[in-house]
Amino acid sequence: MENQTVTAKKRIFSGIQPTGNLTLGNYIGALRNFKLLEDEYDCLYSIVDLHALTVRQNPAELRKACLRTMAIFLASGLDPEKNIIYFQSQVAAHAELAWILDCFTYMGELSRMTQFKDKSAKHADNINCGLFAYPVLMAADILLYMTDLVPIGADQKQHLEITRDIAERFNALYGDVFVMPEAYIPKVGARVMSLQEPTRKMSKSDPEETYIAILDKPDVIRRKLRRAVTDSENRVLFDPENRPGVSNLMSIMGALTGRGMDDISAEYDGRGYGAFKDAVADCVISVLEPIQNEYDRISADKAYLESVMVSGRERASAIAYRTMLKVRKKVGLAALKL
Ligand code: TRP
Repeated sequence: MENQTVTAKKRIFSGIQPTGNLTLGNYIGALRNFKLLEDEYDCLYSIVDLHALTVRQNPAELRKACLRTMAIFLASGLDPEKNIIYFQSQVAAHAELAWILDCFTYMGELSRMTQFKDKSAKHADNINCGLFAYPVLMAADILLYMTDLVPIGADQKQHLEITRDIAERFNALYGDVFVMPEAYIPKVGARVMSLQEPTRKMSKSDPEETYIAILDKPDVIRRKLRRAVTDSENRVLFDPENRPGVSNLMSIMGALTGRGMDDISAEYDGRGYGAFKDAVADCVISVLEPIQNEYDRISADKAYLESVMVSGRERASAIAYRTMLKVRKKVGLAALKL
């Protein structure tokens, strides 16, 4: 395929919502793995500000949140030369391709999306067309870059499936235009659960006390961990089914230190939950504090952030443009003459 011969590396695309605080779960499950991918793959990380508009946003807040998200990405160590980090809305082709793909997507399949059902129940006063067509914009994000692999959690699996269905439908009509994307399952990865309801995934859209934000200050981290739900048995034993709370704290420690569960248990079992929670807090703080310092440095450097933003936009646009030329031609839109 034309776009693929440009690079021998496989391409990875991920979209990140700019709203809400990125959490320790995002760091452990996504961000720090992204750093490990940057040499082996050709990676694009899009801050999906158009998707954010599917629910009402305060404009000034949204603009800040977008920049904050970009700064956190950079502060986590992602190299902006090796990776393309950019704002979705700054590459107009996302919206263009989404429109075209809308015409190849059925109302029926979109109404079966569980995220749409959940979100429309949550925002019953604003069930807009954007919310309905959200998965099509996501399909456009992915297909625009001839993406091979998409790192996603279980909650986005259905969206990747519909992306593949749309791509297949389009390819069947017009020949092989789009690359068929697949889910990327990271080699190392721990699922971080809510501190208050440890059977649910830690989520930035849940209440404050259920998650640790990447930018939470040390005293806040310590307080949230001290208040994390455990059980009454006071044993540091890994058993996610029967002791989800303490097991979650153990796997956070394990993920951040590389230590095994038996090893952690051998050191902390018998010393009480208080001591163990403090030790987990020490670990989390020692990982997040350097990221926060780097974040402060980067956020103060507006010129640098802007240069990353512009270069990301230009590099993403160049790839997107080639895809759009092809798609426009296939569906019969007038050729773009420069
Ligand atoms: N829907 C994703 C989420 O809520 C974000 C997203 C948008 C995305 N476009 C994407 C993820 C493309 C992967 C690929 O998490």
